[in-house]
Amino acid sequence: MKNNKVLVTGGAGYIGSHTVVELLNANYEVVVVDNLANSEISAIENISKITGKKFPFIQADTCDLASLRKIFEAHEFGSVIHFAAYKAVGESVEEPLKYYQNNLMSFINVIALMKEFKRANVIFSSSATVYGDADEQPVTEQTPLKPANSPYGRTKQICEDILKDSVKACEGLNGIILRYFNPVGAHPSALIGELPRGVPNNLLPFITQTAAGIRPCLKVFGKDYDTPDGTCIRDFIDVVDLAKAHICALERLLSFSGGQNCEIYNVGTGKGVSVQELIDTFESANNIKLNYVYADRRSGDVPEVWADPSKAKRELGWQSQTPLCQTLKNAWAWQKNISSIK
Ligand code: UD1
Repeated sequence: MKNNKVLVTGGAGYIGSHTVVELLNANYEVVVVDNLANSEISAIENISKITGKKFPFIQADTCDLASLRKIFEAHEFGSVIHFAAYKAVGESVEEPLKYYQNNLMSFINVIALMKEFKRANVIFSSSATVYGDADEQPVTEQTPLKPANSPYGRTKQICEDILKDSVKACEGLNGIILRYFNPVGAHPSALIGELPRGVPNNLLPFITQTAAGIRPCLKVFGKDYDTPDGTCIRDFIDVVDLAKAHICALERLLSFSGGQNCEIYNVGTGKGVSVQELIDTFESANNIKLNYVYADRRSGDVPEVWADPSKAKRELGWQSQTPLCQTLKNAWAWQKNISSIK
């Protein structure tokens, strides 16, 4: 019989919380562990509001092996989805050890306990950042990885290698690596979404906070790139679509009869959208005029990166669905909700 129970590490976070909703909607049993280092307990309450379901939540740090072992002892999940990690590119340059310690140790602990407790399936949250400044666009899973441009990016590359090596060495273990492009948007209920602490690093929360009057002006980092409008190009993937990719990946893992499969999938729309286009679409979708200026390039930014997501479509049966203007409406509805704007 299939083991329908899943441990979600970092399940109170941005992508984790949306994935927990989709897991519960698909009738998986879920156990969430999160240390709330970069998330709020309200996300857990709101997941229950959206789904009408309760589930065990444990506030613990996955870097703490003893605490994590207790969770493995108490819950008979067969699969783990590992989100728990730090993700601020700039901070990782300032404090590399914080990133290596947290992002590597938590994943090593998860894999070690999966081996010890014979738990079969793991999905690892990776990122398009592993491609670095790739020679060709769109990137496929075969595109050679370039050196990452930050310690954060290197932790993703190293964790991918940790998983590949562990699957090779551990009979019964299967892994899927999902390489996320740029996750954006919020749940259509406006009850969960991205909750950056302090000044947002990422583009869309900066846009919504500027629209809400929390930030006076958005800086567009670079107008002189070799792209059609001079701004960087990214692949903005709706967070609910992204969450659904985890369900497809989990179904595939559960369909394997043996172990030692490790697969990689790009999770993006397949469409490159410039920073300027994102701003224009946000303005027209929400009928808002955004205050923005063009500024210098941000160091470490790649000019363009977007996905070839055809492998995910072929093998996982997954593809993005939500039109960008709907995603940007959801993001604004979420921002209005958390800022109490009518
Ligand atoms: C980066 C990482 C990605 C990581 C994500 C998590 C790379 C290539 N990508 O994405 O792997 O998962 O952060 O935080 O390292 N921008 C502005 N003004 C702003 C903010 C951003 O113009 O105030 C521009 C950036 O210059 C960039 C684009 O918007 O061109 C997207 O930036 P951002 O949202 O930070 O994502 P990435 O840097 O693509």
